[in-house]
Amino acid sequence: METITLKIKRQERPEAPYYWEDFKVSYTPGMTVTALLTQIQKKPINDRGEATQSVVYENGCCQGACGACTMLINGRPRLACSTIADHLSAPIVLEPLTKFPVIRDLVVDRSRFFNDLIRASSWISSDFNNPDAGLVIPSESIQKSYRELSSCTFCGSCLEACPQYNSRSSFVGAAVIGQIRLIHLLPMGRMEASQRLSIMMEEGGVEDCGHVGNCVKACPEGIDLRSAIARIEREVTVEAVRRLLG
Ligand code: SF4
Ligand code: FES
Repeated sequence: METITLKIKRQERPEAPYYWEDFKVSYTPGMTVTALLTQIQKKPINDRGEATQSVVYENGCCQGACGACTMLINGRPRLACSTIADHLSAPIVLEPLTKFPVIRDLVVDRSRFFNDLIRASSWISSDFNNPDAGLVIPSESIQKSYRELSSCTFCGSCLEACPQYNSRSSFVGAAVIGQIRLIHLLPMGRMEASQRLSIMMEEGGVEDCGHVGNCVKACPEGIDLRSAIARIEREVTVEAVRRLLG
């Protein structure tokens, strides 16, 4: 069995300084980064042969569906559970996402992202006064867009890759805009459209997008975030005109 070196950026607690620690782990072709990290968990010994603290990382579904395991792998945001080590140059460098505060090692606090989803009312409210509202069958193209946008795992890769999403801006980022587009595809979702578009018109809303397109390249689900952003920009313009005309 071969060995491979993992170079991991470590931090014991949020306010502690970071340091780098290398680990040599057994490797067979086809192993994922999560599988390599599991070996450190079983035997936390660094490449100098010293016993050390086990590396802390998030792991949920182990099949690319929950987004919990996102980290920087050789400088790019990726899902550790779906990234095969064979395709990576060694040593494999693992770092926590940079756009969120570090909790410990590779685990970050993505509260800003989740709070923005709440701020933008990223859900569909039930319309109890209109029992037919949920029965409209959407067209095939809407169903296709709906399927694509609903594959978002909230991994945060698009936010990590976005230059507009940082500690100096309040930009909500592509994933939240994608969720608004998803909800507005359905008649029931449009019930609170005006409220969501108000959020999109504020500072940090869709107009803060710099149209760099990094989000599209970073999204592991291949979601067409560029079109979602363009559609919400159009909705914002129409809403602004509607408000202007009363
Ligand atoms: S849009 Fe893509 S990159 Fe962004 S959070 Fe969702 S799945 Fe992750
Ligand atoms: S653990 Fe769920 S996406 Fe990786």
